[in-house]
Formats: sequence, structure tokens, C-alpha cells
Amino acid sequence: MGKALEGVRILDMTHVQSGPTGTQILAWLGADVIKVERPGKGDATRGQLRDIPEVDSLYFTMLNHNKRSVTLNPKIEAGKKIFTRLIEECDVLAENFAPGAIDRMGFPWEKIQEINPRIIYASVKGFGPGPYEDCKVYENIAQCTGGAASTTGEIDGFPMVTGAQIGDSGTGIHLVAGILAALLHREKSGKGQRVVCAMQDAVLNLCRVKLRDQQRLAHGPLTEFPQYPNGTFGDAVPRAGNASGGGQPGWIVKCKGWETDPDAYAYVITQAASFAELAKVIGHEDWLEDPEWNTPKARLGKLDTMFDEIEKWTMTKDKLEVMNILNPLNVPCGPILSMKEIAEEPSLRATGTIVEVDHPERGKYLTVGNPIKLSASPSDVVRSPLLGEHTEEVLKTVLGLDDDEIKEAREQGAI
Ligand SMILES: CC(C)(COP(=O)(O)OP(=O)(O)OC[C@H]1O[C@@H](n2cnc3c(N)ncnc32)[C@H](O)[C@@H]1OP(=O)(O)O)[C@@H](O)C(=O)NCCC(=O)NCCS
Repeated sequence: MGKALEGVRILDMTHVQSGPTGTQILAWLGADVIKVERPGKGDATRGQLRDIPEVDSLYFTMLNHNKRSVTLNPKIEAGKKIFTRLIEECDVLAENFAPGAIDRMGFPWEKIQEINPRIIYASVKGFGPGPYEDCKVYENIAQCTGGAASTTGEIDGFPMVTGAQIGDSGTGIHLVAGILAALLHREKSGKGQRVVCAMQDAVLNLCRVKLRDQQRLAHGPLTEFPQYPNGTFGDAVPRAGNASGGGQPGWIVKCKGWETDPDAYAYVITQAASFAELAKVIGHEDWLEDPEWNTPKARLGKLDTMFDEIEKWTMTKDKLEVMNILNPLNVPCGPILSMKEIAEEPSLRATGTIVEVDHPERGKYLTVGNPIKLSASPSDVVRSPLLGEHTEEVLKTVLGLDDDEIKEAREQGAI
């Protein structure tokens, strides 16, 4: 069974999170991803948030599986030669440095194209062209500038960022789509192209329902929001707590044990099609005949009362019981699972979504495997490389350098 991207070679200049998550997906799909890192230092995340002294952090290991690591400094002459050879031999150059960093290494897009007209040059940046294009950006800045923070949080609380790394990993996934499209396009055109994803744009793309609501707001209050009918709406989409954001009202309700367990909650959606079943199971058969309750429109103004009543029932059950009772009734719901519960979940282990990996310096650790499942090209998760682990191997087998040339490059500090 061949890997889907077998034969595709990536010159991976990415660092931190956004770029590496993208190239990690390409590596899982079978591409040969050659991660180029600064000699002696490597990707800064190797040393960040360390749990074990002197050992590559989980931050690094969990973002760089299935890659090879080469140390190379393209800023010095001997390094430039090797970098040029790598550009010749690779299908994709991916990077997410601050704007202009690759140019400052002496490799603007024009030169890269000249070296290899078939190469796809893919970048993550914080912002697209405009007033902020030169800014450095991290995850939460993208969440704040892409519309996620202003629309997330308690109704009367301050803006809130989410734990899902939609700015970094979210942009990495967008970059993968761009790279794959450019690879397909190259089949027809014979030429590579530039792929750029701005983190602000990717977050906004993931928040598009909120731009939808912004425009609906011009035509009256957002009736599915908790602010309706008694609160006030300003001129921008407000934060909506745990409201569903879709056409079917939903909320997080307490379950048995909530007093001591911070995750004893479940999300329940009161989809119109299964409302009768839900009403019956929580002991509110009376709602079915009552015009104040028996249509979605009638319920809109009193969603808080409705979820209070649902909660009285869910508080008598634990969160998995709630799931087990409501799902057969076609009531969409989900327990709030902690990371501890997810890490221990047997079904996620069985599908390879949670995997245990062995690392020569840190021993065994858990990671998230490839969430994209291909029937003919399953992914194995291979531990992240040590700094420069594959320098000689790549220089010899990919570039054809001999021992003397490698020795010379090393003496000059290029590798
Ligand atoms: C993430 C970010 C804020 C980090 O900033 P930073 O730590 O200051 O790192 P930078 O990207 O500015 O720069 C890296 C420097 O290392 C240099 N460098 C990187 N790899 C090198 C190598 N192999 N050899 C020699 N130098 C190297 C770069 O040339 C650059 O030097 P320069 O500033 O002289 O041009 C920034 O890279 C950024 O905004 N990236 C784009 C958006 C992004 O992806 N953000 C999310 C990250 S999770």
C-alpha cells in the first residue's frame, strides 16, 4: 500500500507551531519532509515548555513527527550552496518566518523560481498585504484579529481566546490545502507557484458564521442569542456564551457530580425534529400541547428557562448516561470530555487518533495521530527527529555530496 504523497519532497523551513503542523500532515500523508534547522540551536520549540531537562519538549515532538532533521545555515556561503541544491531537489519549500526572512537569507521568490521553476513556495504569515503585513504574529494575536476573541466568551464578560489552536494549527491546515492544490496544478502547468496563508484570514475563515451574524444583525436582533429578548444588541456581533451559533439552540448543562468535577457537563441541542422526545424524557410532556412551548419560534424567547428545565434532568445523570439516553432519541448531545478522558479513550487509541510513541531521549509519550484517514494510505506516526539527526544522510542520498564536501561544510559552520 503506497503512501498518498510518496515521491513528494518538502524542504521544511517551518518553526514553532503553524508551519510545522502543516508539514507534519504532509509527512503523515507520505511526503519526505526535510526539516532545516539552525545549526546548534534548531527550532526554538525544542527548548520551550520542557518537562524533562535537556530533552526535546513535547511542544516540539508533537508537531514534528515523520520528518527528517537537517542542520543548515543558508546565511553563509557554504550553506547557500547546499540550500540551492535542496531547492533543486524539492517539490515544496514551506516556511513561516517573520516576513522577509527567506529574502534576507538571499532567496527571494524570483531566485527560488529561477533555481527550480517547478517548486511550490508556501508561507504562513500573520497578516496579508496591508497595514500589518510586517508584524510578527502568534496564535492568540490571530484569534484576536481574526474575529474569534470578540465573539467568544461570557455574554457580559471580556473577549476570550479558545484552547483550539485555530490561528496556528488552523492556518497550517489551510496551508496544506494550498500546497496540495498547487501540486495538482503543477501536473498540468509544469510550474510551481506561491502559496500564502495569513493567520488572520484563516481564523476569519473559521469564524465565517460570525460574519454571517454581523450582517443578520442589520435586520433585527439575533433571536437565537441569549441576549434575546431581554438584553440589548450593539452594532457588532456580541459574545454568546455557549449558544450553538447554528439554527438549533444548544447549551452546556450541568450533570451529576458537577459540584466537584469541573468537566461534569454535557452539551445538549434542542433540535426541532426531536424536541418531543427530549421534552418527554425530561418530564415535560406538558410542553407538547402548550402553544407557548410547542414550536421553535415560541421557545426562542425563553431558551434560558428551557435549558434550566433540561438541566434539572441532566443533573440527575452523569454525562455519559445523558449521552447514552439522548442519542437513541436523536437528540444531539455530547459530554464535555477532559484531556485526561480523551487520552484514555480506547476508541481513539483504536483508530490511531491517540498514539503512544517511543522517543530515544524522553521515552514513551502520547500524541495525536493523523486525523485524516485515507483507506489505501494509512499513516504511521514516527517519532520526531533529533536536531540534525539526518544531516549526513540527506546530504549524501538526496544531494549526492561526498564525505569531503560534508566535512568542509561542517568546518565552515554551514551544517
Ligand atoms: C513566529 C514568529 C513571531 C517568531 O519570531 P522570531 O522568533 O523572532 O523568529 P523570526 O521568524 O523573526 O526569525 C527567525 C530568524 O532566524 C533566522 N533563521 C531561521 N532559520 C535559520 C537557519 N537555519 N540558519 C540561520 N538563520 C536562521 C531567520 O533568518 C531569521 O533571521 P532574521 O530576522 O535575521 O531574518 C515569526 O516567525 C512570525 O511572525 N512568523 C509568521 C507567522 C507565524 O507563523 N506565526 C505563528 C508561529 S506558531
